[in-house]
Amino acid sequence: MQGKSRPCQRGFLHVCANMRRRLPHRHLSETQPMGDPLPSQGTSIMTIDEFRDCLLDYYQTEVRGEAFFAATLSKFDAPDHAYKLGSLLQLETETKARLRPTILELGGSVEELESSRSAGLSRAASISAGDWEGFVRVLNKVGEPLTNRQREVSEIAPQPYRELALSMKIHGESIQDFTDRELAGDSAHSIDSVVLQLKFPLRRS
Ligand SMILES: [Fe+2]
Repeated sequence: MQGKSRPCQRGFLHVCANMRRRLPHRHLSETQPMGDPLPSQGTSIMTIDEFRDCLLDYYQTEVRGEAFFAATLSKFDAPDHAYKLGSLLQLETETKARLRPTILELGGSVEELESSRSAGLSRAASISAGDWEGFVRVLNKVGEPLTNRQREVSEIAPQPYRELALSMKIHGESIQDFTDRELAGDSAHSIDSVVLQLKFPLRRS
């Protein structure tokens, strides 16, 4: 039985700091099924407790992201921008909901912390109305460390949850892909990898 755990209350950029505690690791070879690709030599898979704490951080990051995108919507009038922001908001909302069953299964709390929402709103307040490139640059910078961590976790998550961890890597990479394409001028297809993940995609006008 896993103990109850409270999500961490940290800044917008924080990712899975609980994993940095000195907790016992199981070496990969103890649990890695035959046929699965092996992560880099010397890496250890996470314990269930570490992975649960990581999910709690992911969850609060989705809460922050949801507040951030929702508050940013009012700063941009162009239909294309509204569609892209709406799709990013939808991705955060759907991902948050998708994490809940596993968090509860592992004994964590799905309470949405007010501090997480505040962090998202505060970040949104730093975006100037109409400055689309500024918004994209902020999103790119904020998302980079998170996506890097999601890539790392996707390789060391405990086996029953590896697929979920991989989906979070895809989640992070899709947002980074959006920012990279926007900054490169590929406005027509920048949001495609985000939309591809949506269960309830928005209509593009
Ligand atoms: Fe997210």
